Amino acid sequence: MKTINSIIPILFVFLISIVACNCDDDPTSNPCGEDIQIEWQSIDTTKQAYPFPQYPTLPQTIPNNPDNPATIAGVELGRRLFYDPILSGDSTQSCASCHAQGFGFTDNLKAFSTGIDGINGRRNAMALINLTWVPRLFWDGRATGLEDQALRPVTDPIEMHNTWENAVCDLMSSPDYRQRFYKAFGIKTITKEDVANAIAQFERTLISGTARYDLATIPGSGVFLTEQEYYGYSIFFNEVADCFHCHTGSGSLFTDNQFHNNGLDSVATLNDYPDKGLGEVTKELQDNGYFRTPTLRNIELTAPYMHDGRFQTLEEVVDHYSDHVKQAENVDPTIKVFFKDGGKHLSPDDKAAVVAFLKTLTDTAFVNNPAFKSPF
Ligand code: HEC
Ligand code: HEC
Repeated sequence: MKTINSIIPILFVFLISIVACNCDDDPTSNPCGEDIQIEWQSIDTTKQAYPFPQYPTLPQTIPNNPDNPATIAGVELGRRLFYDPILSGDSTQSCASCHAQGFGFTDNLKAFSTGIDGINGRRNAMALINLTWVPRLFWDGRATGLEDQALRPVTDPIEMHNTWENAVCDLMSSPDYRQRFYKAFGIKTITKEDVANAIAQFERTLISGTARYDLATIPGSGVFLTEQEYYGYSIFFNEVADCFHCHTGSGSLFTDNQFHNNGLDSVATLNDYPDKGLGEVTKELQDNGYFRTPTLRNIELTAPYMHDGRFQTLEEVVDHYSDHVKQAENVDPTIKVFFKDGGKHLSPDDKAAVVAFLKTLTDTAFVNNPAFKSPF
């Protein structure tokens, strides 16, 4: 009896507070419980488009999602969310835990990443570089855009292992986030789509176009490639090393954004690829063992290499294309024709030159850009 008596006044206060909240003309519905009071009218919601920098070597058109155009407030919010462990199930892991700026936004030289429950994934964390030009995300292309991709790691059981309900409620309980979402999107109730939109806006700004390779192409920059680097560049782009078939595309992105089988594995049948890659998504046998051509920008910093991190060094990668290419029924036509009998059979000097050229794609301004660092 005594307990019931003491609960009644508490319930009463609680009911009053709900009613008080409803009396307000604030349309917020907080599915997470009692709402916090925020002075919405003091927040400036004027939208300022994010000023994307133009780089002469990159494509001059910078794709921006018309349904989610990048704004200064949206990008800033996305950056916080990217670096905030609040999104993971036990608040220990953020996107940046597996995508570290100093390593071209890859996972600290690890082949596989470990999620919050100590379980390893099966693929190498990808570099987050120039993704605004990438239509299909992940090694197997299963995400159809940055917004779609950003929805996935939070609930992935071997990554951040959270529920969206939980993640959104944690954000809804933070006055700071509530104000930032209002500023960026004019919304008082946060949804998972808003979270993904903000993160995608930030990711679109991760543009690398100031490597030595880029600067060397600008007349008057005073930056020149060495003789060896320049030779490596020329054989990368001709039939001697033949890399350009796939690592090209408009405006020096160093990827065609297509999916290929680059001869990594020897298989008896097309069902035997240890990781089916694109085939897992399309369910087409011919697509088994196909993976997206990754960019080569900042490649020096993103070891180990390939979807499963099998190669530790760039020398090992070049050795693969030179001498260890495996033919299979569904290898890429380029591999079939131009990488016959194990590969390009490059001389030691040619191999060293290709590696030297690849290192000219390291963009120190990108990996040190304060706008991409943690805001915390
Ligand atoms: C536990 C480590 C881990 C965490 C945490 C993580 N990622 Fe990833 N990320 C990966 C791995 C591994 C891949 C490649 C997976 C695949 O292709 O199947 C990847 C791929 C990506 C890609 C695809 C890039 C491309 O070129 O296609 C994007 C974008 C990305 N992650 C963004 C994020 C964002 C945003 C977050 C936070 C919401 C996040 N990641 C959290 C490990 C992680
Ligand atoms: C037939 C298309 C094709 C050709 C030709 C090709 N590549 Fe690749 N490259 C790919 C694909 C696809 C991948 C990803 C494969 C995977 O992980 O399963 C890749 C991966 C790489 C990687 C690892 C990237 C990372 O982030 O892990 C490097 C480095 C690389 N290639 C360099 C080269 C060089 C140097 C040449 C020329 C000697 C070359 N490639 C020729 C398609 C190609």
